Amino acid sequence: MSSQDIPEETLPSEQGAAHVAVAVAKEDPFADPGLPPHKPRVQDIDERAAKRSERTVALLFTVSMLATIGFIASYVILPVDKIVYIFPIGHVSALNFALGLTLGLALFCIGAGAVHWARTLMSDVEVADERHPIEATPEVKAKVMADFAAGAEESGFGRRKLLRNTMFGAMAMVPLSGVVLLRDLGPLPEDKLRHTMWSKGKLLINQNTHQPLRPEDVAVGSLTFAIPEGLEEHAHDFQNQIAKAALMIVRIQPKDIKDKRELEWSHDGIVAYSKICTHVGCPISLYEQQTHHVLCPCHQSTFDLSDGARVIFGPAGHALPQLRIGVNDEGYLEALGDFEEPVGPAFWERG
Ligand code: FES
Repeated sequence: MSSQDIPEETLPSEQGAAHVAVAVAKEDPFADPGLPPHKPRVQDIDERAAKRSERTVALLFTVSMLATIGFIASYVILPVDKIVYIFPIGHVSALNFALGLTLGLALFCIGAGAVHWARTLMSDVEVADERHPIEATPEVKAKVMADFAAGAEESGFGRRKLLRNTMFGAMAMVPLSGVVLLRDLGPLPEDKLRHTMWSKGKLLINQNTHQPLRPEDVAVGSLTFAIPEGLEEHAHDFQNQIAKAALMIVRIQPKDIKDKRELEWSHDGIVAYSKICTHVGCPISLYEQQTHHVLCPCHQSTFDLSDGARVIFGPAGHALPQLRIGVNDEGYLEALGDFEEPVGPAFWERG
């Protein structure tokens, strides 16, 4: 049934629709409540009260001036080493106390005077300021574009291509001076962080006795630290080299070694691993011989030396790198190459 079919008296009249709209508007929970009626302050209606406020503000500003004079006088008069007893602070430097007190008072009085002035004497009529649309009107936009075009025309930016291009060139090149200064950061590390002093045939030197290690020197259950042959403690780069090449050696019954590659890279159960934790590079030093776990003292990362030094606890992200070792013709333990992955913190991408 269409509206034409409905009897006219049953359709809502315009007046009825207006009433409905007013009712909806009245129910609007976000209707603007308007401003409360303005209540004049006592200073607005009583001239004597206003004068009193004025005197109070003037007094605060005057105290501030006196405090500033006191600050300067304290600085000039008081000796640096004079100590006084101030309850309840105790014994303090008289100069520091006087400077702090006078400066604090001077600043406080300025602030208090300004607040009192604003609250009692400045106009307190509330003014509603409508929020304007942020977008500029079409006229303003047109004017800005016209100004821009006029500016571009006046500067000759479009016509004088030589000037424009050389300016772009100059602006593009200025940042290059900053890039050049990066050279002052020193030479690039290149691949130095990926390699250590270990290489094929380098003997494993006991870090404590400074003697080359033989397999019989490494007992089951012991933890031995080793450095590469040729690394001298007085060498200028000793710290850099030891930070990468430090080695820990343990002997495990070959039948207890779970990782196949570890077994292949060991010699008669003697395994050599980097001593540098793969978390943030602390030297690992705690060995639990029953479980073959080594523990980093810094953040408790724990590695299982009987299973490829994989991480079994803690924040370290990678297993410790293993060094492939063997025994040379004279019966000394030797490296069969460098580590095959970067030692130390795991943020170095391995590859
Ligand atoms: S450095 Fe070893 S656990 Fe953090």
